[in-house]
Amino acid sequence: MKTEALSPELLTETARAMVADGKGLLAMDESNGTCNRRFGSAGISQTVEMRRAWRELLLTTPGLSTCISGVILYDETIRQAAADGMPLPRVAQDAGLLVGIKVDTGAKALAAHPGETVTEGLDGLRERLLSYFKMGARFAKWRGVIALDDMCLPTRACTSANAHALARYAALCQEAGLVPIVEPEVLMDGAQTQARCQDATEAVLRSVFEQLLLQGVVLEAMILKPNMVIAGLTGTARNTAAEVADATLQCLRRVVPAAVPGIMFLSGGQSGEEASSRLNAMHVKGERPWPLSFSFGRALQHPALDIWAGREANRVTAQQALMHRARCNSAALKGEYSAAMEAA
Ligand code: G3H
Repeated sequence: MKTEALSPELLTETARAMVADGKGLLAMDESNGTCNRRFGSAGISQTVEMRRAWRELLLTTPGLSTCISGVILYDETIRQAAADGMPLPRVAQDAGLLVGIKVDTGAKALAAHPGETVTEGLDGLRERLLSYFKMGARFAKWRGVIALDDMCLPTRACTSANAHALARYAALCQEAGLVPIVEPEVLMDGAQTQARCQDATEAVLRSVFEQLLLQGVVLEAMILKPNMVIAGLTGTARNTAAEVADATLQCLRRVVPAAVPGIMFLSGGQSGEEASSRLNAMHVKGERPWPLSFSFGRALQHPALDIWAGREANRVTAQQALMHRARCNSAALKGEYSAAMEAA
């Protein structure tokens, strides 16, 4: 197949646009199971129509594209339409947002390795990518999930299985004209120390870049989506924003080639305020070889979801809450976020 979309220069242009102008991504690609769980906690009915209504609310937030460059959709969402019949990917494009799509099929138990997973979805991926491209997607996401503890996880088996899958996925994306977001997520839950998170994150990223090079992935035409380096969320240790920024930047500088056009963090269970202040701290630390941005799910959506609570009457206030978090993160990309923004 030969199309204009296959040019690596076009992919690089898209990747750069994803991190340009103080903008980041809104990850709204929760699987139905995850979305339903979050709806359940917010007292919202767990139906296909409520998922559609929530995603339409997010995409139609006035002014979203001033802080958000693109959105990551789930397979169900990219096939849905707004209440007026307009396909949701078209709604996103008309709002000035690049369309992305989650293409993995989830983390499954890794045989012989209790407590660890490998992300699946490579079977039939080439064909699925082509059809997502036709639906308007210009980038994709695959999330490898790496469990961490204070003893022996992750194993090399888990790290290398996920790195291999991420690299195979990324090469297929570039062949299909989509920018791959490569997301090796070292989980933040648990009670491990920040040092342990840093060691594991560095080892995982090393393995991922080794595999990306082996599989012929063009580094200039991808985005890395890592975790920040923090002490486990269920432990008692709490890092300052500066500590998170120092450890995360040190880890990334050691492993991520300067050719990568952008690094966009996941939020991973941090509160919206924590994620913004840590992102801000990284931007007051001076020069880096790559632009750093955000690709947050929970840290952007959660306050808005709680306000919406499934009621049309709350739509505008929920959209304002989403815009507030989007503005805070956009300010963080210029080193201009402060706690005062939360009070405003
Ligand atoms: O894969 C995970 C999502 O894209 C980011 O979600 O920011 O809630 O961790 P999160």
